[in-house]
Amino acid sequence: MKLSHHITHLTGDSDGWDVFYRARRMIRDGHEVTELTIGEHDIRTDLSILAAMDVSARGGHTGYAMVPGTDSLRDTVAARVQARTGVPTTRDNVLITPGGQAALFAAHTAACDPGDVGLFMDPYYATYPGTIRAAGAQARAIQTRAEDSFQPRAGLIEEQAAGAVSLLINSPNNPTGVVYSAQTLSDIAGLCQRRNFWLISDEVYDTQVWEGSHISPRSLPGMDQQTLVVGSMSKSHAMTGSRCGWIVGPETAIEHLINLATHTTYGVPGFIQDAAEFALNAGTALEDKISAPFIRRRAIAIDILSRQHVIHLVPAQGAMYLMLDIRATGLSGEAFANALLDTHAIAVMPGESFGRSAAGHIRVAMTVEDEKFAASLGILCDFAAGLAQKSGAA
Ligand SMILES: Cc1ncc(COP(=O)(O)O)c(C=O)c1O
Repeated sequence: MKLSHHITHLTGDSDGWDVFYRARRMIRDGHEVTELTIGEHDIRTDLSILAAMDVSARGGHTGYAMVPGTDSLRDTVAARVQARTGVPTTRDNVLITPGGQAALFAAHTAACDPGDVGLFMDPYYATYPGTIRAAGAQARAIQTRAEDSFQPRAGLIEEQAAGAVSLLINSPNNPTGVVYSAQTLSDIAGLCQRRNFWLISDEVYDTQVWEGSHISPRSLPGMDQQTLVVGSMSKSHAMTGSRCGWIVGPETAIEHLINLATHTTYGVPGFIQDAAEFALNAGTALEDKISAPFIRRRAIAIDILSRQHVIHLVPAQGAMYLMLDIRATGLSGEAFANALLDTHAIAVMPGESFGRSAAGHIRVAMTVEDEKFAASLGILCDFAAGLAQKSGAA
């Protein structure tokens, strides 16, 4: 049977994830590999959250839940967003979704008609282009520059904006770890207002800011009417498998998004929503507990990297990743990652997996325990130094 062009062409550009799949095959075949690849915590969902989930499920919250989300979780998310951004927010501005990924798809479906262009910043989280295409739009990557620490430039976005109706941004950023500055966000807001773009702001790492501060562009003047914010419990509360996130936006957009949810996801399980509500109301202590390993490992990494001159660390301001510039080794990110896997059984992601802008870089996820992390990073630095010496580039 013929499958639709739509579904068979969602992806297809080389996805650059070969190193990741190769590492997984090596593990399956019994090799010991240190995986510094994907964005998954090395701790599991907190037992207190699981207890809340258990009480809710045993209490009977296992039937169809309210499609927009339970009133109390929507209220909790609205109050949290209002407290963090100062923007008046009620439950009518909130749709609960099965994770940030479903929110990204829904937001683009709300913003784009078939054939419209949806812009996104490169380097990018792997699903972005496919998600925009899944919503029926054309996905167009806008390059950022290592020399600008991957802060987007509104002027460069505008040059490539023909036919576009939306712009997807992500701060704190995966894969670069960069937090967008007030100036960057103000320039982007100005651009969206001039061009009448929906700004889709992926803020799933908003509790993981190590330097500077997180600004939600929805809080900039006038932007609450044209911003759709994507949030999630995955990263802030180590609830990746629970699939619970949200969209925050103007009431009319949320009304239509609820209609979309009725015809696609039909909501999020009630016991998951109750657990999320418990977690959000548990306050910052729980979030800090989840962030603490990344703060420690970032400090370890800064210390190790400060003792060498071959690898350059892109400012690691937020999220659970380090973006390392390895161009001084003379290798591409992909060649470096493959060689590191072959020689030292350490798996990192080539920058090229995240688009063209991060070529010559590698992304290191800070998701293994401290000692192993420090040892692996030390080996990685020595490996880079050896390569640089050989190529005569250092
Ligand atoms: C930037 C970014 N956005 C969205 C997601 C999706 O998160 P989830 O669907 O688990 O909420 C991820 C997951 O890694 C991510 O890194």
